[in-house]
Amino acid sequence: MNVTSTYPDLFLKPGREKALINRHPWIFSGAVNVAPNCREGEIVAVRNMKNEVLAYGFYSRKSQIVCRLFEFTEKLMIFDDAYWKQKIQNAYNYRKNLPSINQSNAWRLVHAEGDFLPGLIADVYGETVVVQLLTEGTILLKDTLLNVFTDLGFRYVYVKDADENKDRSYWLGNIGDKVIEMEENGLKMLVNIEEGQKTGTFLDQRDNRQLLGTYAKGRSVLNAFSYSGGFSLHALKNGAKIVHSVDISKRAIELANENVELNFGQTAKHQGIVADCFDYLRQPRSNYDLIILDPPAFAKNLAAVERAARGYKDINLQAFKMIQPGGFVFTFSCSQKITTDLFRKIVFSAASDANRNIRIVHQLTQPADHPVNIYHPEGEYLKGLVLHVE
Ligand SMILES: C[S@@+](CC[C@H](N)C(=O)[O-])C[C@H]1O[C@@H](n2cnc3c(N)ncnc32)[C@H](O)[C@@H]1O
Repeated sequence: MNVTSTYPDLFLKPGREKALINRHPWIFSGAVNVAPNCREGEIVAVRNMKNEVLAYGFYSRKSQIVCRLFEFTEKLMIFDDAYWKQKIQNAYNYRKNLPSINQSNAWRLVHAEGDFLPGLIADVYGETVVVQLLTEGTILLKDTLLNVFTDLGFRYVYVKDADENKDRSYWLGNIGDKVIEMEENGLKMLVNIEEGQKTGTFLDQRDNRQLLGTYAKGRSVLNAFSYSGGFSLHALKNGAKIVHSVDISKRAIELANENVELNFGQTAKHQGIVADCFDYLRQPRSNYDLIILDPPAFAKNLAAVERAARGYKDINLQAFKMIQPGGFVFTFSCSQKITTDLFRKIVFSAASDANRNIRIVHQLTQPADHPVNIYHPEGEYLKGLVLHVE
């Protein structure tokens, strides 16, 4: 529709509409002509050279992704409070009947592009919702967006800005403690919402941690890159012989030890070890027959993919070399830039160098409360393989 919009216009170069017609939510800098006259993060109307509106998004001149789209329509729109409320309500309604939410009192309520709301992450921990405003666009809408969580009945709303050092505070209520307790698959876990990674912990591994538990009985487990010990707790609960949690962060291992004690007391067959896993995997302290490799995103951008691939190959190769015959490796990548196919190739290459017979037992991904927008394949960031090593 060719009408004047309330919002500044962003014109696409000729022939650059295809991704947008396919509802991909990102516009890269090369696809636009002139920067619109607007503030960082402001909503813009995206138009083709015929001056027709195609979509609306948050504009950013600082980023390679100059516009993150949240509405695909030819209509003239007004994005008022009711619009944002409905978007978050839709995300909430989708999750209301998901089994994951019955397994845990901690779950993701809004998953950015996966919920057609780029720049917004919201994780629920009981009565608290921890919100990450990841772009200037969502920061500009802060009060409007946060009000919706109040309307949904949350007692505490805690906010973290994109810039991790900038804004971290309670917006609504104050629980009086930055460490809160959550429950997952019948286990208690302490979460430090202020200092913890992401919104406090990694909710995306909930289903995979439960699966790990089913393989743990009687096994010697190495949880490499353990963070606060989520996989370790599931292994202990299911009768593992011994569990070692290894992480480079002292604070993560303190938290893992506290979590083990909270669930199993001081006599649990668990040891937390502060170490660089690249070194530890070369000098293991035990004969492991169940190994978890869940490193941080090694590839944050395209330029880093090659180096990241070497890192993934190295840790997988060491795990395949050391694991006892008949053991299982749970191996993951959470790098958006490492595709499922590339990850499989990297693990294949490590397996081949280790010269062992290896079966793929399960192919894993992120849980249902971290959905993938079908038009945004980059949203499928978590890949995992469960491997049996002869
Ligand atoms: C994706 S998180 C792991 C999440 C964990 N599996 C869970 O279920 O919560 C990655 C972890 O790797 C740790 N890490 C990063 N580099 C490391 C290294 N070189 N050696 C050991 N740990 C490392 C980080 O401190 C972080 O806790």
